[in-house]
This record gives sequence, C-alpha cells and structure tokens, in this order.
Amino acid sequence: MKKVMLVFGTRPEAIKMCPLVNELKGRTGIKTVVCVTGQHRQMLDQVLAAFDVTPDYDLSLMKEGQTLFDITTGVLNETKDVLTKEKPDVVLVHGDTSTTFAAALACYYLQIPVGHVEAGLRTYDIYSPYPEEFNREAVSCISSYNFAPTRLAADNLIREGKNPETVFVTGNTVIDAMKHTVTDDYSHPELDWVGDKKLILITAHRRENLGEPMHSMFRAIRRVLEEHPECRAIYPIHMNPVVRKAADEELSGCDTIHIIEPVDVFDCHNFEARCHLCLTDSGGIQEECPSYGKPVLVMRSVTERPEGVDAGTLRLVGTDEETIYNNFRELLEDEKAYEAMAHACNPYGDGNACKRIADVLEKGSCEPWNV
Ligand code: UD1
Ligand code: UDP
Repeated sequence: MKKVMLVFGTRPEAIKMCPLVNELKGRTGIKTVVCVTGQHRQMLDQVLAAFDVTPDYDLSLMKEGQTLFDITTGVLNETKDVLTKEKPDVVLVHGDTSTTFAAALACYYLQIPVGHVEAGLRTYDIYSPYPEEFNREAVSCISSYNFAPTRLAADNLIREGKNPETVFVTGNTVIDAMKHTVTDDYSHPELDWVGDKKLILITAHRRENLGEPMHSMFRAIRRVLEEHPECRAIYPIHMNPVVRKAADEELSGCDTIHIIEPVDVFDCHNFEARCHLCLTDSGGIQEECPSYGKPVLVMRSVTERPEGVDAGTLRLVGTDEETIYNNFRELLEDEKAYEAMAHACNPYGDGNACKRIADVLEKGSCEPWNV
C-alpha cells in the first residue's frame, strides 16, 4: 500500500486539494494522510468544513502579520517531525504558496519524493506574482511527479528540461470542486440585496498589490460604482488586516458595495456563477469564472494563467486607477465589448483531474486530458 501525504495551508490550496483528498481516500491501493500547516486559519477551516476533511496533523502556524520568513521557517521546521514520523512514499503539495515551497523543501532535505499539483504555470518574473512565481518554479526543481493543469503548463515544464515521463496533463482540480458547489436552487441574503441589479464580484489580496496599487484599484471601482446605480457589488474581503484597512479607507460609505466576511466556497462559486462580471487579483477566480462565461478584469500586470486571456474571458488591467476605471466602465456601457468576453469556455479542465492524479499515484499512469 502506497502512503500519500498531502500538505497544504491556505484557502486556495485547500479548495483544490480537498477534492483530491476525498478521491484518494476512495482508492484501495493508497493510504492517505493529511497535514495542514495552518498558514491560514479561519479561511482554511471554512474549506475543510465544506469538504468534510479532517486533517491528521494541524501545525496551526498562522500569526497576524506573518512575514515570508515566519511562514517559510515555520513550515520547514514543523513539517520535519511529521514527515520523519510518517515516512510517506510521496508528498503532494499544491501550487505556489510559501507552505507549498517550504513543505517541498522539507521533503527534499529528507529525500522524500514530491508530487506537484498545479505544476508548470509561469510568468518567468519572480517578482510577479510575488513570491508565488519563485515558489512554483522552485518546487519544479524538486518534484518527481508534475501534475500540469493544461497542455501549456506541461509544455513549460518540458521546455525547462523536466522528464516528459514525469509530466501529466490532468486539468485543474478546482474544476472538479465546482461540480459539487454550484447549484440552481442556491439562495443567499446578499443576492436578495442585489435583486435584479448587476452583481459585481470583487476580491483582492496579492502581496505585490498591497499599498498604493490596492488603493488605486479600490478608488477606480468606487468611481465606476458611483456612476452606475444599476450595479451592486459584493466584496468578500480577505482577512489580511492590511487589505481591510485599505478597503475601509477607500470604500466605506459607498452604499452600492457590501464588504462582507470571507464566504465559504459554495457561496463564492455560486456568486461567480450569478455575477455580471468580476474584478480580482486572485489566481483561482481566473480559473473559475471562465467556466460560467463571466468576464474577469484581472487587476495584475501579468498572469500565469494565459489560457483564459487567450479564450477572451480574462482581461489584464493592471493596478493603475484610470486603466481599471476605463475597462470597468467599458464593460458596463458597451454591450458588444461585454458580449465579446461573456462566453463560457473551459480551458482549465473537465472535472476529472483528481481521478487522473489518483490513477498516476495508484497505477503509474492516467488518460491525459487533451486540450
Ligand atoms: C497567501 C499566499 C498566496 C495566496 C493567498 C490566498 C504566501 C506567501 N501567500 O497569501 O500565495 O494567493 O494566501 O489567499 O504563501 N489571515 C487571517 N486568517 C486567515 C487567513 C489570513 O487572519 O484565515 C490574515 C493574517 O493576519 C495573516 C494575513 O492574513 O498574517 C496574511 O496571510 P498570508 O498567508 O501571510 O498571506 P496571504 O496574502 O493570505
Ligand atoms: N473564495 C472563497 N471565499 C471568498 C473568496 C474566495 O471561497 O470569500 C475562493 C475562490 O472561489 C477561489 C479561491 O477562494 O477558489 C481563491 O482564493 P484566493 O483569491 O484567496 O487565492 P489565490 O487563488 O489568489 O491564490
């Protein structure tokens, strides 16, 4: 029996790893062990509850105002004991967070093979997204299994010299998660408040956007909302106090925007499925909204998810106030521009990514997802 340990710590990793935990638990040839670092707390616990996953280990590392040094050294030191005790045959990490990087590094030091879920996304600028691009590239140096969500991501890895036999095109596990979250009969008091107005969904949290870029983003959004009373915005705000302070300074008193606590994954996906458009700097939302044909204005200068841009559903608008203002207004005022972006496409998966990853771990191969 192969022992597979999954290590993750933040909300997006959990949303994309919990469906895999549940798939692996159903495999007879695999013993599954879950270790959460607790890099996030409340936002992680929301996801664990939603997918009914109880970790075997919880390192409870989160501190308010934690630095990259805190997270990296905390995860590196604390995973050491768990890995030494459990001696897994393989450890799965996800994506690009500091939990991901430090857990993979701990495995490398202990010579435990690593499987990288959502491997191969690239901007090739280690300062954007920061520190995620570095984290993801560094894990690729260590990993023995590379589960690429798309052909493009797999090609990046192979071009960089990864052995093609270790690279598997699986689709993104978030598309698997969405099969269970979005329902027709969904309701929520915030959607009652929106009524028949246009729902604008907003999220923001990127480290490189903290400070003036985030203030510019919020100012642009407020200006457009004040000029467009046909819109109602819902902003489930990240728990980072720095984000909260900026939002409070720029958005308070605007009565067509509701800033609410982080919602669970069922709410978030159902809000996405019902919104008119989304403004975000999130990674995961860039993958989810295209499935519903919801235009996304991505408040970043580069993205490691170009598939949605090529498909026409994502538009990169950076963090400059005038650029965001102009693009947001255009999508509200120019029907043709809106319609050109609003078509459903699924560049990120077919909902069977977890099955493919489990097949590779259990049987050594899988039917690739071809796009
Ligand atoms: C982290 C990841 C980022 C990912 C994001 C998803 C790193 C360096 N960053 O960034 O890649 O896109 O998660 O959201 O790995 N906080 C709480 N409760 C929570 C979560 C956060 O209070 O449940 C607060 C804490 O004060 C914490 C701060 O938010 O110190 C920032 O959290 P942190 O994980 O350091 O950074 P994120 O911006 O969330
Ligand atoms: N999300 C959520 N509740 C929220 C905001 C986001 O469940 O209040 C989900 C969203 O659907 C996506 C993921 O969290 O799956 C994105 O997380 P985040 O933006 O924090 O991180 P990133 O994807 O940028 O790493």
